[in-house]
Amino acid sequence: MDKLIIEGGVRLDGEIRIAGAKNSALPIMAATLLAKSRVVIRNLPHLFDITTMLELLGCMGVQPIVDEKLNVEIDSSTIHSFSAPYELVKTMRASILVLGPLLARYGQAEVALPGGCAIGSRPVDLHINALRSMGADIRVEDGYVRAKVDGRLRGAHLFMDMVTVTGTENVMMAASLAVGKTVIENAAKEPEVIDLAECLIAMGAQIEGHGSDTIVIEGVAELTGCTYSVMPDRIETGTYLIAAAATCGRIKVKDTRPDILEAVLLKLEQAGADIEVGENWIELEMGGRRPQAVSLRTAPYPAFPTDMQAQFTALNTIAMGSGSITETVFENRFMHVHEMSRMGARIKVEGNTVFVDGVDALKGAPVMATDLRASASLIIAGLVAKSQTKVDRIYHIDRGYECIEEKLQLLGAKIRRVPA
Ligand code: EPU
Repeated sequence: MDKLIIEGGVRLDGEIRIAGAKNSALPIMAATLLAKSRVVIRNLPHLFDITTMLELLGCMGVQPIVDEKLNVEIDSSTIHSFSAPYELVKTMRASILVLGPLLARYGQAEVALPGGCAIGSRPVDLHINALRSMGADIRVEDGYVRAKVDGRLRGAHLFMDMVTVTGTENVMMAASLAVGKTVIENAAKEPEVIDLAECLIAMGAQIEGHGSDTIVIEGVAELTGCTYSVMPDRIETGTYLIAAAATCGRIKVKDTRPDILEAVLLKLEQAGADIEVGENWIELEMGGRRPQAVSLRTAPYPAFPTDMQAQFTALNTIAMGSGSITETVFENRFMHVHEMSRMGARIKVEGNTVFVDGVDALKGAPVMATDLRASASLIIAGLVAKSQTKVDRIYHIDRGYECIEEKLQLLGAKIRRVPA
């Protein structure tokens, strides 16, 4: 297995471009199953999860055509299987996103039940309940979600018990081809949900209210192809900003969206960063100052994103003062904490809160990545540590960060990949 070797202690300084958002690209790729004709998706990130989604579409008989810029053309008319096998679902839970589109367009779907994972139990009961309310007959058996519907799904008035991002997306996609009106109350407001809605609208869907907690979808008889460009990745953006802040450095991130990062930029300012933004760029300057520890609480958008808490925990480990980080979205998203304490962090977990007293410096150590964002946080810890850090199991990072070592090298980091 590949490893990353980091010689810490370098102040990051430079400019990078941000890739397309993984968590928009995945549902948009699933949405191509709804269209009668070819969909062209631009600005797809070069990520392992995107390859897995292409493979999933491929094993259903869809043949995506990828050009050298990783724009992908998907014409789903050659589909011959409606099944997402366990081998793919176990490597990427977002495979569940094909459930709604397959059911709505082809009246049947079989998707392996995603199990728990390193960040929590992550059930899909809300997806299933909502689709059942729309007339689907769904059985969960032999580790699979088996769904079918006679004719088309029916619009329904739905109340989601919890805010679920992929749940909202699955239902929104299914409702786009249902008969009649669907109302999703307590819908997720994440920018990635809005991006998917905009893509569906470009395909001919009638959707209103995306970005608010009530989304209204008037089903249409068919959706057609379109060309759509995926929005920039806000979590990748935030991760590099935090890395620069933790190393007391400077960074300009380009091709991004400051308007969807407000909660994160506010915390970076509290940590002592000077931040300037333009329409599609963000510049952060620490001027050599050590960050101040910050306290925060994760919650669905527009609050502070769970996908950024591990990275802020890394920043707190070497900050001045103490900070507490409370995770309210997933029950077990603190696997990075034990690895950071092995690097000399003064850190403890109580319930769903991690308390950190900043130390002057971390010490490099061999550490193990456990999930995507935890891996990013260990890389940040490695960048600020005094000596060498080896991050093992970095296939997690390749799922969600495009060319991470190249981008960090552009910022001056001493980081290299050692193949297995
Ligand atoms: N939940 C249920 N039942 C359901 C669905 C969700 O109880 O049927 C619970 C979950 O267990 C969790 C909470 O609801 O406690 C919220 O989970 P959500 O469904 O919103 O998460 P998700 O859709 O599976 C997406 C992102 C995650 C991100 C979360 C929260 C994608 C492909 N994944 O997951 O991204 O952390 O929303 O914002 O969009 C990542 O990129 O590293 C990542 C994990």
